Amino acid sequence: MAKVQLTDLVLRDAHQSLFATRMVTADMLPIADKLDKIGYWALEAWGGATFDSCIRFLNEDPWERLRKLKAALPHTPIMMLLRGQNLLGYRHYADDVVDKFVEKAAENGVGVFRIFDACNDPRNLKRAADAAKKTGKHVQMAISYATTPYHTKEIYAKLAKSYADFGADSICIKDMSGLLKPYEAYDLVKAIKAEVDIPVEIHTHATTGLSVASLVKSAEAGAELLDTTISSMSMGTSHSPTETIVEAFKGTEYDTGLDIIALLEIAAYFRNVRKNYAKFESSFLGADTRILASQVPGGMLSNLENQLKEQGAADKIDAVLKEIQAVQKDCGYIPLVTPTSQIVGTQAVFNVLFGRYEKITSETADLVTGRYGALAAPANPELVKKALIQNKYDAVLTARPADSIPNEFAKIEAEAKAVGANSVEDVLTYAMFPKVAPNFFRDRAKGPVDSASFAVKPPAPPASPPPASPAAPKPAPSNEPAKYVVNVNGSDYNVIVKPATGEFTVSAAPVAPAPAAPAPAAPAPAAPTGGTVIPAPVAGTLLKHQVSEGAQVVSGDTIIIIESMKMELEIKATVAGKVRFLVPTGTQIAAQQPIAEIN
Ligand code: CO
Repeated sequence: MAKVQLTDLVLRDAHQSLFATRMVTADMLPIADKLDKIGYWALEAWGGATFDSCIRFLNEDPWERLRKLKAALPHTPIMMLLRGQNLLGYRHYADDVVDKFVEKAAENGVGVFRIFDACNDPRNLKRAADAAKKTGKHVQMAISYATTPYHTKEIYAKLAKSYADFGADSICIKDMSGLLKPYEAYDLVKAIKAEVDIPVEIHTHATTGLSVASLVKSAEAGAELLDTTISSMSMGTSHSPTETIVEAFKGTEYDTGLDIIALLEIAAYFRNVRKNYAKFESSFLGADTRILASQVPGGMLSNLENQLKEQGAADKIDAVLKEIQAVQKDCGYIPLVTPTSQIVGTQAVFNVLFGRYEKITSETADLVTGRYGALAAPANPELVKKALIQNKYDAVLTARPADSIPNEFAKIEAEAKAVGANSVEDVLTYAMFPKVAPNFFRDRAKGPVDSASFAVKPPAPPASPPPASPAAPKPAPSNEPAKYVVNVNGSDYNVIVKPATGEFTVSAAPVAPAPAAPAPAAPAPAAPTGGTVIPAPVAGTLLKHQVSEGAQVVSGDTIIIIESMKMELEIKATVAGKVRFLVPTGTQIAAQQPIAEIN
């Protein structure tokens, strides 16, 4: 066996990083036979974003994808990325859901479980690792890599030791942002190798341009397993090219023994396939060294760009990247990986748009009050104080978060069956993405989206948010600047949006109730009748009416919950009166769109 073996990420992380996780199974299967013959240690093919994208955008059953890939890859283990107690969702699940999910994933084709936790809190990985051990599959426990004053190689080595003691079959250093530098990688692998005698795998994104050198130095230090991706799906926010690493080691003691000619055929295949996804491509395709300061992971960067475009604030990217550092510090130097990358990223966007912690998402409040697990460092006490009040908690949680979640599989199963789930796998799909799964169950029979359709027109897959593009909904169709009244935390602001650029200016002047133009994105919004209009501060989905239609409220009452950039935001009444809702729940809303009126 070669001293160094490769995991190719082409079926998961590569397209997640490069084109918003849109690759369809039909574009994977034709090349599966060739992939299977290469002799990879594993092929990474499944994870949270691929699962989500399958049901949200592609009308594909993610379990079916797994089964098809397993059948097409009889000789190569399929790796999945599992977020510990979060599984593939955005919250902690009860232990019985974790057990069931892992069991079914193994049964349907997962051969390697790569398990990680954003907080690096071992209590959040243990249950998933135990469940994976029971399946007899390979259990790899991953360390979320961050470079902060609280993350030293000694701490990582200790963590690796505790994972080895759990029974991990291998350790992964998961560097989401390409922050791992070659000589630090060498020292880190040496430090871990001094503590554990199981294989070490390196996952380091190419974003900063450091990755090839870091993989080489990691191998020199004793890392046996390296993550790469076929060249035509490599670099940018993705990973080091497989062929490059193969050739770099050729003839040395680290020779992978892989066939470059066979790899080139695979590269040619994906070079062609990639054209189908041009509209989803991130604009960061070279080396982005700003990340050495901001630590923004590859996948997050392209998401963030799209989300800022949706908010009509694409020009704010640099300010947001800078703000991310402050938020990360305030959140106890949390490593930035799903879901914390999203939480920190969205909070940074809100800080830039509305002022620092003027609007705290429900998830940020959970994070800094221990609901995701122990933080590496103390969180900003002022932020914690605000967070406790906002989410109505008595204290910071110090126990394992899942300890307070009673078994829930039976309850979820009953809910899932009521919305069309007809297998245990379906129940788990619903458990992971309860808002998206019912639509998917309804539309599944229509069959998967064809990637060729991406090239034509916006495909409008069922119940998906409109794809973000530079032509995202503009509030006003004319060339006149559109004027809106936006309320943020009880204060009214005049907002003027320039139609050509989407650029907006905000002035903190108290304003009279103003008529606001309904955004074209909304399905038949009700028109305001002259009361005080409550606009959506950001684009997103109207999740919930918190009070009933016609309810009497006072200023400061929460009347609506919006989901924006995957986070929840409370919308409060700004005056006393009777609430009239202008858009129904489940509606996609544009920034500044009127969503309620108070008379
Ligand atoms: Co990655």
